[in-house]
Amino acid sequence: MKSSSPADGAFALRDGALHCERVPLEAIAQRFGTPTYVYSRAAIEAAFRSYRDALAGRPALVCYAMKANSNLAVLDLLARLGAGFDIVSGGELARALAAGGDPRKVVFSGVGKTEEEIAQALAAGILCFNLESVAELETIERVAARLGKRAPVSVRVNPDVDPKTHRYIATGLKSNKFGVAWSDAVALYRRAAKLAHVEVVGIDCHIGSQITELKPYVDAADLVLDLVDELQRDGIRLHHVDFGGGLGICYRDEVPPAIGELIAALLARVDARGHADKTILVEPGRSVVGNAGALLARTIVVKRGAERNFAIVDAAMNDLMRPALYDAWMDVQPVRPRDSGAIVCDVVGPVCESGDWLARERALALAPGDLIAVMGAGAYGMSMASNYNTRGRAAEVVVDGDRVYCVRRRERVEDLFAGESVLP
Ligand code: LLP
Repeated sequence: MKSSSPADGAFALRDGALHCERVPLEAIAQRFGTPTYVYSRAAIEAAFRSYRDALAGRPALVCYAMKANSNLAVLDLLARLGAGFDIVSGGELARALAAGGDPRKVVFSGVGKTEEEIAQALAAGILCFNLESVAELETIERVAARLGKRAPVSVRVNPDVDPKTHRYIATGLKSNKFGVAWSDAVALYRRAAKLAHVEVVGIDCHIGSQITELKPYVDAADLVLDLVDELQRDGIRLHHVDFGGGLGICYRDEVPPAIGELIAALLARVDARGHADKTILVEPGRSVVGNAGALLARTIVVKRGAERNFAIVDAAMNDLMRPALYDAWMDVQPVRPRDSGAIVCDVVGPVCESGDWLARERALALAPGDLIAVMGAGAYGMSMASNYNTRGRAAEVVVDGDRVYCVRRRERVEDLFAGESVLP
């Protein structure tokens, strides 16, 4: 089996056709239609185990950032392996619980938690709130007091470290809306330590996503550990240190650190700084599911234009926003490569916008009816999908060896306006 794409191990060409594990993608298209997200169970589990194994032998928790892919089946597979969850909304909490996730392993991130969401999380008994501002601390104290609870909190520190990634997904810079300025963090902890309905349990930082270098992580870790030291001198002892998520994957030719390498570098800092007793948390999303998924689509028409050629496929920006939103390069593979006839074309969807593209200037030999797979689509694919142009969202399937399970049926047109009504 030859690896089909830089972005992938679970997908490979066999007998001239692309497979996911042992299942030909052609069979999936025939049975479930297109567009369909296809995920490899083995690849998801292997990535998660890399985190778990790298942290073995010490108190640690891997909180999967479920915004990357929140299908219940994916969450369930990870929960079975002991995953906790990093959530950013009441909706994500409900999903995590519906999938059998343990609320005591849930951390709640996000800059705009509402009182309802805070109350919902307190009632569920989550591990901690990752605080993003002093105003949020006061809200949490008030809601917890009303419910007669004590809210576990951790401060999300903004260390002002450049993660060297796309500006939309850098989160640990002073100019970003995220976290509490490093220089304000100690004061916030002192305030939190005085409140009756809040319990300080940890510290947290997440500097961005699709990070492909170790240095920003290590720099941020050192700054966070400086605060841990300072707080300790103040008599505020933290139970856990959360280094966030953000590890990049290979979409094209990026060479991000391996999961084990990243964790080893972080643990080396923790140990060198004398904090081996702290529980270590991480919040990976993309690196768990990104390479485990592909978006399977069918070519509708090949249009030779005056200046450009277009392969128009039945998946579009509403199914996979990453190219339109971040100018992201995603690998497109023909499911049954042809020997000749390649032309340079843009792979686009049927949505009525010129921003609706999946790939640009690729040499592909495609004819109407041919299947393609957009690789590395397991993260931030379906979870960011919309119904723009009144297009039902794609089906999702999980491949497990030679079996395929539909884990979300294709949305039907009647689903799309079921909640709407007209005036009397
Ligand atoms: N923790 C927090 C607080 C986060 O905000 C995120 C992602 C993660 C963890 C997980 O990061 P990851 O390991 O997946 O990089 N839609 C964008 C990515 C947005 C990331 C948002 N935050 C994309 O498609 O590239």
